[in-house]
Amino acid sequence: MIPPELQLALPERTIPIWVQDGALSRLGTMVRSVLSEKETPRITILTDENVAALYLDEAINSLKDFHTRAIVFPPGEGEKQFARLRTILDELISEGFQRSDLLVGLGGGVVTDICGFAASILYRGVRWVAVPTTLLGMSDAAIGGKTGIDHALGKNLIGTFHQPQAIIADLDMLKTLPEREWRSGSAEVAKTALLSTPELWQEIQKISPDFSNWPQEELQSAIRVAMRGKIDIVEADEREQNQRRLLNLGHTFGHAIEVATNYQAFRHGEAVFLGLRAMLHLSVRAVGLPSEEAHAIDAVLAKVPHPAAEISIDQILSALEHDKKKAHGKLHWILLKAVEQPVIVDDVKDEWVREAAEELVGYLKEGDAAPFGNRLSRVLVLNGPNLNLLGEREPEVYGSQTLQELEEKIRRRAEQIDVEILCRQSNHEGELIDLLQRFRHWADGIIFNPGAFTHTSIALRDAIAAIDTPVIEVHLSDISKREDFRRQSVLSPVCVRQISGKGISGYFEALEFLAEQK
Ligand SMILES: NC(=O)c1ccc[n+]([C@@H]2O[C@H](COP(=O)([O-])OP(=O)(O)OC[C@H]3O[C@@H](n4cnc5c(N)ncnc54)[C@H](O)[C@@H]3O)[C@@H](O)[C@H]2O)c1
Ligand SMILES: [Zn+2]
Repeated sequence: MIPPELQLALPERTIPIWVQDGALSRLGTMVRSVLSEKETPRITILTDENVAALYLDEAINSLKDFHTRAIVFPPGEGEKQFARLRTILDELISEGFQRSDLLVGLGGGVVTDICGFAASILYRGVRWVAVPTTLLGMSDAAIGGKTGIDHALGKNLIGTFHQPQAIIADLDMLKTLPEREWRSGSAEVAKTALLSTPELWQEIQKISPDFSNWPQEELQSAIRVAMRGKIDIVEADEREQNQRRLLNLGHTFGHAIEVATNYQAFRHGEAVFLGLRAMLHLSVRAVGLPSEEAHAIDAVLAKVPHPAAEISIDQILSALEHDKKKAHGKLHWILLKAVEQPVIVDDVKDEWVREAAEELVGYLKEGDAAPFGNRLSRVLVLNGPNLNLLGEREPEVYGSQTLQELEEKIRRRAEQIDVEILCRQSNHEGELIDLLQRFRHWADGIIFNPGAFTHTSIALRDAIAAIDTPVIEVHLSDISKREDFRRQSVLSPVCVRQISGKGISGYFEALEFLAEQK
């Protein structure tokens, strides 16, 4: 058995938690090690379209010793509902899923929540494995066995406790996480740090409350510390009788923001960051958090950007009032006396709550003027045959840098202009077609250097014509100045643009062109 980095020890069993770079490629071995020797269950992977485009092939490949299939559904919180659950159950039952088979939830919190829930009710309970792919999933949602779906009247109102057999987190997968998803997860990690891991809070103060720009090594250890923090709380109170409620730190005001904006404007974590700031204010008044300490924490949390919103104090108060009714007339405020000293308080003066809400309304106004509208463009950079030999092959024509160096530079440029990119290379025509098809929804644009297929591949031309995603054809060398047979591109009529002979700058130009189109 590959030794797991962490374990969740519960009275009925101990759950191994692997947290490693590249764990996805070892999924098969890890899954095998939580089964008994003789059995080979069939596996159904549940995942969303974004994650499937990036990681499903590798997951299936890693599980090749099992009979494995997948159910893929659209991404987003909107899928965490009865209608989706029902289609999943229908498909599992009609495909002959057995009680002894295994479900694997491959994705963020939405996927693991719905997968765990489906597993808990199908045939009165089947086994499942959580493979969280977001920071929020790894540090929070996948740990603890809370599963569920949303109801029209509120989030997570329907659900069960159903622990997975194992939790497998591949930190490499975070590399493709969009900016706002990083932020969403960062809030939960910051929350755990304030609750129970002061050494992590110190690191956050030093580096940044937004983990997207943390150095790799520090990030790895921070995620493990955050997971440990959540594990400790779940071990002490699996069914959320008391201590587990502490995890709601910052969530009372955070929830009020989400309700006041109809869950539309803020990612959950963005609201939690703001909720934590309002919580500090209340903590100074209600439980004597020293105001210098509150300011110091607030200064760190305030560094995280968030959308601007015009919300009134009354909207915040009425959302709180609604939560209060649901909780039998009493809000349980989770407040901080100091870092690592949370307290649950029921009687907080109304005027203090109002003051904190006033502060919050101020923060909300100050948000980023452009609420990230343009920042989410995603671009696939696809390099065709022989480009893997860049640097070795005819350097006088193609330059001396390697493909890796080229991709790294493109990646850095993309970061500067807030474009998320993914780089792929293949020498095979069919694989290039597969990649164009697979990423057609994920990507807002594709930068494609088709190599010598440019001059011959009608199949690639058909693939580009078949998808709506704009494709820009890029060549390092100037194909119009080379041999006759290289002058003609069968692809350019179906591409939005051709950029040729500009070396790596051609890729930059294509990136900027696509970013402007967004
Ligand atoms: N069960 C629990 O204890 C618990 C705790 C906290 C949150 N939650 C739930 O978790 C959900 C939120 O989870 P989330 O923030 O992970 O959201 P999510 O599952 O919607 O994922 C966020 C987005 O990122 C994409 N994505 C996922 N992994 C990716 C990757 N590696 N690369 C690129 N894109 C990727 C997804 O397709 C999706 O669009 C909420 O429904 C919340 O209620 C549950
Ligand atoms: Zn949360």
